[in-house]
Amino acid sequence: MVDIINSLRGKAFLAPLAGISNLPFRLMARSFGCALAYTEMVSSNGLIRKADKTYEYLQTCAEDKPLGMQIFGAEPQLLAKAALIAAERGADLIDINMGCPVKKVIKSGAGAILMKDPGLIARIVASVKKAVAVPVTVKIRSGWNRSSINAVEIARIAEDSGADAVTVHGRTADQGYSGMADWKVIAAVKEAVHIPVFGNGDIWHPQDAVRMIAQTSCDAVMVGRGVLGNPWIFTGINQLLAGRREDCKPGLEQRYEIIKKHWSLEAEICGSRSATRNFRKHLLWYTKGLEGSSRFRNLVSTLPDRESMLNELDKYFLSLAVTPPEIIP
Ligand SMILES: Cc1cc2nc3c(=O)[nH]c(=O)nc-3n(C[C@H](O)[C@H](O)[C@H](O)COP(=O)(O)O)c2cc1C
Repeated sequence: MVDIINSLRGKAFLAPLAGISNLPFRLMARSFGCALAYTEMVSSNGLIRKADKTYEYLQTCAEDKPLGMQIFGAEPQLLAKAALIAAERGADLIDINMGCPVKKVIKSGAGAILMKDPGLIARIVASVKKAVAVPVTVKIRSGWNRSSINAVEIARIAEDSGADAVTVHGRTADQGYSGMADWKVIAAVKEAVHIPVFGNGDIWHPQDAVRMIAQTSCDAVMVGRGVLGNPWIFTGINQLLAGRREDCKPGLEQRYEIIKKHWSLEAEICGSRSATRNFRKHLLWYTKGLEGSSRFRNLVSTLPDRESMLNELDKYFLSLAVTPPEIIP
């Protein structure tokens, strides 16, 4: 078995996030101490057909390490071929998606519906494991629905078939992203297998990561939505896990610099079209909860190009800097 955990510099990972965990975003997360980052899920068929868009999702660079590339599909042989392509493209780890609840993915027999077919999971893991030399991991849900919670069974099967680690998202597939993640399932999987278990679901603040590790004994945590507009969460998690005080929230000026850095990476790596269209959502996340941000956020959604958005960002942050704190009578 490959020792994934001991080769990493921390216990806080960036989750695969479709439309979000691209190269610029991963570099930002790493700059705050993220120990392992994943690409968004890429289609095994797309990789084999050499679809340009699919290859774009695997774009990486020397600083983007260690990197998990996540693939999805339903056929053991195709997934094995796709894994080999991903490994040749620089994956340090291949993750197989067994948790995506999106209709189109499910219909193709991939993603979370695999949780209904343990035999197929065994064949997929064995086939991918045979094809690549890098570690192979699986990302699963707690089960398909509330009456079929089978993460423990699936994790055991994955382990027996050669998986090097398992990530457990403590929600059922039919829950989507709603409700609370059930961390007890993560604890049960940890008890049941010998391979490392990464816990996932509802880490919104650094303290949540500490609680998850304490309650489940998981080997590392994977942060999803809690990182949006908040990549410094990794600093906080690492500080708390090292027994230090959490001190990660950037001041206004720092936040402004972080946004600009992320934005210029997006433009540099993905081009100006992406820096306009794809970045808008990051601006909304980065400014959520800041004073008077709703006006800025409404405005930014209507602006046509990067220059005008940058201009508004500058004006907004300047206004924050000069506005004295509101005096409550
Ligand atoms: C916008 C979005 C995109 C996602 N894309 C993927 C994906 O490509 N692969 C995957 O395994 N999970 C994906 N997920 C699920 C997350 O990796 C994670 O399991 C989930 O959000 C639960 O963690 P959280 O409560 O910390 O957000 C996605 C979730 C969201 C919200």
